[in-house]
Amino acid sequence: MPDFKMLLNPSANHVYRQAAPALAAAELEITAPFASQVDLASIGGAPALSFSADDPDELVLAAQSLMLACFEEKAGWLRPLALPELNVMDDDLVTIPKYPGKTNEAFTRLLLHLTLSQISRPGPLEVLDPLAGRGTTLLAAWQIGHHSYGVDADSKAFDAFAGYLKTYLRTKRIKHSAQVSPVRRDGRSIGRRLDAEARLDEATRDHPANPGGPRLKMTVFTGDTRDSAALFGRKRFDAIVTDAPYGIVHGAEAHRRQGHQPGGRDRSPAALLAEAIPVWRSQLKSGGALGISWNTYTLDRSELLRMLAAAGLHGLDAGPWRSFEHRVDSSIVRDLVVAVAD
Ligand SMILES: C[S@@+](CC[C@H](N)C(=O)[O-])C[C@H]1O[C@@H](n2cnc3c(N)ncnc32)[C@H](O)[C@@H]1O
Repeated sequence: MPDFKMLLNPSANHVYRQAAPALAAAELEITAPFASQVDLASIGGAPALSFSADDPDELVLAAQSLMLACFEEKAGWLRPLALPELNVMDDDLVTIPKYPGKTNEAFTRLLLHLTLSQISRPGPLEVLDPLAGRGTTLLAAWQIGHHSYGVDADSKAFDAFAGYLKTYLRTKRIKHSAQVSPVRRDGRSIGRRLDAEARLDEATRDHPANPGGPRLKMTVFTGDTRDSAALFGRKRFDAIVTDAPYGIVHGAEAHRRQGHQPGGRDRSPAALLAEAIPVWRSQLKSGGALGISWNTYTLDRSELLRMLAAAGLHGLDAGPWRSFEHRVDSSIVRDLVVAVAD
């Protein structure tokens, strides 16, 4: 059986890079059933994976979130594979924004890929991040040709995101519309919404990631995630992909809440997720999947799996699905779960 090597992308930050090879191996085992003997390796000292495969699916290899390049190995020589380009928008869409609290973009792509791998419907898919922050998931979904939707309680994050998206689309000369408007209920304003559409270049029309012609839609609301179903009404999503609050009490917040030290931990994300998961479940289409990452210091994996099960979601928890836990810093050990509708 032919042997392959996958060179991993060195762009992940230092802490994340330590964990990246093990995460990439688990991602490959889950999403590439044709790959056997997946193992950690190196190419000239750079982190890589090795695997064997008879007939590798190039679209699946190209979708590996932590891959830089892939090679077939023969008699000690590496022959590069010409993999298809899956991105319908440039990488800088996701990498330009830099701010405290941003979810690592390589990790976001990993969570997105694992979640979408559990959906059999062809794209473009509709992806909701109900804790969207400044939009890393929304942008990563657009980059690979899916529509994206979001909610976040932080109106400053919403403003920063809307401003960034408009500037980016204008600067890149991408045909688009994007407007922010008030949301009213019973005659009073309850928040704002961003509605955007990017009409991408003709050249991407026959793209494998987006064969229907890329007109990417996006809607983002300010508001509480527990009101997400009320905000989106009857709309249903193929995937929900989200990075939950880490429960870290930052400086000013710590002073307001007696007894908390800056950098200390707060278990409240568990309470939020217990209330939000049934709401999110109601927004999933049948055959849909939910992928969530969280700080294990605030919530045990088993407790999260129980919350998901109570809402009618089956958390995938066997073999490589249990290999994603990794340290982010002294107060965050992050893990992820993907769950499918029962
Ligand atoms: C870990 S951050 C997500 C960061 C995001 N992935 C990014 O890269 O910008 C979690 C987000 O949850 C939001 N959040 C916390 N509680 C919320 C609630 N009850 N409703 C809506 N958003 C909430 C916070 O404002 C924060 O933006």
